[in-house]
Amino acid sequence: MSVHVPMAVDSRTRSEIEADVVADYRASSPRSAALHEAARKVMPGGDTRTVAFHAPYPLAVAEGQGCRIQDADGRTYIDLLNNYTSLIHGHGHPGVVAAVSAHLPTGTAFPAPNEAQTKLAEIIVDRVASVDMVRFCNSGTEAVMNALRAARAFTGRELVIKMEGGYHGTYDDVEVSVHPDPRDPASGPDHAPIGVVGTRGVPRNTTENVIVTPMNDVDAVSRLMRERGDEVAALIVEPVMGSAGMLPADHAFLEALRALTLEHGALLIFDEVMSFRLEAGGVQEHYRVRPDLTTFAKIIGGGFPVGGFGGRASVMEQFDPLGPTPLWQSGTFNGNLITMAAGVAAMEAYPPSEVARINALGERLRSGLRDTLAENDVEATVTGYGSFAGVHLGAREVRSYRDAAAVDKGLARLLHLTLLLEGVYAAPRLMMCTSTAMNEKTIDDVLAAFGRAVNGIRPALAA
Ligand SMILES: Cc1ncc(COP(=O)(O)O)c(C=O)c1O
Repeated sequence: MSVHVPMAVDSRTRSEIEADVVADYRASSPRSAALHEAARKVMPGGDTRTVAFHAPYPLAVAEGQGCRIQDADGRTYIDLLNNYTSLIHGHGHPGVVAAVSAHLPTGTAFPAPNEAQTKLAEIIVDRVASVDMVRFCNSGTEAVMNALRAARAFTGRELVIKMEGGYHGTYDDVEVSVHPDPRDPASGPDHAPIGVVGTRGVPRNTTENVIVTPMNDVDAVSRLMRERGDEVAALIVEPVMGSAGMLPADHAFLEALRALTLEHGALLIFDEVMSFRLEAGGVQEHYRVRPDLTTFAKIIGGGFPVGGFGGRASVMEQFDPLGPTPLWQSGTFNGNLITMAAGVAAMEAYPPSEVARINALGERLRSGLRDTLAENDVEATVTGYGSFAGVHLGAREVRSYRDAAAVDKGLARLLHLTLLLEGVYAAPRLMMCTSTAMNEKTIDDVLAAFGRAVNGIRPALAA
């Protein structure tokens, strides 16, 4: 479904529209503004999660139920972000609530194994064909860090290849070319990008051990592997790039990565922190490519902090504490009862039928977004797969990180604030996802709001 609201003549300039939207936003969120001011005194910028921050200040969220959340001023929103794709069931899922509540009075974390750990590990091993064994940690960042450590230990090599624009968390080694500016000559040309450290504070020599290649460019990665393949410990890739803009890999590219890593004795790591939700066995099931290692997080914790990594027994067995020279992987809250119990409940409530249902909702969302944008004469690309959607405003068709990086970010932020005013909660970069708490009516409500938002700022979008 799409919505086309006939436009009254609106002669405002883009900056007038931006000023109006920000004024409306401020007027509708005084409590969030006050909370932000208080937070600024004790946290830099009043923030503790850079990706979720946006100007003038983010809404403080007070509570959520199902697919709806409520801000500190009592306004409700359809939650189309689900804590950056991690809340597969939205908020307050009864199964998750019951599982967690059962443990709260009797202890949440012990330095000891528990039944729920094994259960969650069994669920992952049963679902993901390439995973024989798994271990848990507390974030996707840690999952990636441990997977790279495992690969380096297994191969005795240090070099890692990642995709330009690939996001794998905030571990120093993967903070290379996450959001490089393609216009900066330091980033190199399109088909031979040069790794650049993503944030100050990461050692500059990180780029000696971590190099980049463009997603979906078989020639470029083949060339790189011909030149340096025998030094490569691991090639890490998100099969659907999330942070870069919900950009699915080409089948042929992932197949080429598998062949090249096998040829050169390097390990292939699929970062499925985000994409695991896209098929019951992870999106690798759809691509029919088996990596050596897979990283997990987000949905497997049922709404609690989590990470996991797993794969071939021969690689994972390096962590066996009874082995001759075990790899170290520890964490105070690894496998804690609350996260594990919530994860088991969340995964049990996410059978293949539910995966298919919310993927179909994702398709309904993407096609409705495309129709609404086209009917309002707004040039844009809508990307995604399954339950994911990304909106990229501008004439340039978005197929790669460099395409996505070229879009007008200010325009995306303007549409994001306007969507909030219309009751839809998406990421500031216009990333969206569906959840099992939604149905077709929810998506139609989102599309109606999206139509109003687009129409409300149309002169800015069409400029
Ligand atoms: C593909 C991918 N890998 C790793 C991470 C890092 O996970 P976390 O935020 O749990 O550290 C993310 C987070 O969004 C991600 O999308």
